[in-house]
Amino acid sequence: MVEWSDSERKTIASVWGKINVGEIGPQSLARVLVVYPWTQRYFGTFGDLSNAAAILGNPKVAAHGKTVLNALEKAVKNMDNIKSSYSQLSQLHCEKLNVDPDNFRLLADCLTIVIATAFGPAFTPAVQATWQKLLSVVVSALSSRYF
Ligand code: HEM
Repeated sequence: MVEWSDSERKTIASVWGKINVGEIGPQSLARVLVVYPWTQRYFGTFGDLSNAAAILGNPKVAAHGKTVLNALEKAVKNMDNIKSSYSQLSQLHCEKLNVDPDNFRLLADCLTIVIATAFGPAFTPAVQATWQKLLSVVVSALSSRYF
């Protein structure tokens, strides 16, 4: 069971409160698809993903990026229960979508980079450490039904 200090809880609430889901979500998913092109194979129904400009302008990527980021709210709001909060989503990605769980880490890293770019100096190393702790727990929870 992961322990969270009061200060970590405050940091997570503060980061989440400053995130614009409609911007950060689309940019994070687009970044994964550009930087790790093999992830495009899961999004065969999303239309044109042939180059970075197409990915960044693709409305289905933008909509799904928002969906993914909205799903992170489960973790922010249930910090003491992250594993069970993502049980169904883990099962979906494993059994139906057949997503390789290594890709969760790649998305988490892109999300951190996009947030760091958006927040600038406010995203201090200490804030980053706490934020990445949360994402590690989410990645592990999303991977939990694979094993
Ligand atoms: C933080 C990590 C992730 C979260 C929180 C997340 C969340 C979600 C959510 C909420 C859905 C919609 C589920 C539904 O319709 O019931 C979804 C669908 C999906 N996810 Fe993820 N996801 C994550 C990572 C990934 C990664 C890394 C990939 C592949 C590289 C992926 C591929 C997909 C695909 C292909 C769908 C179905 C899209 C569609 O056809 O509409 N996900 N995900």
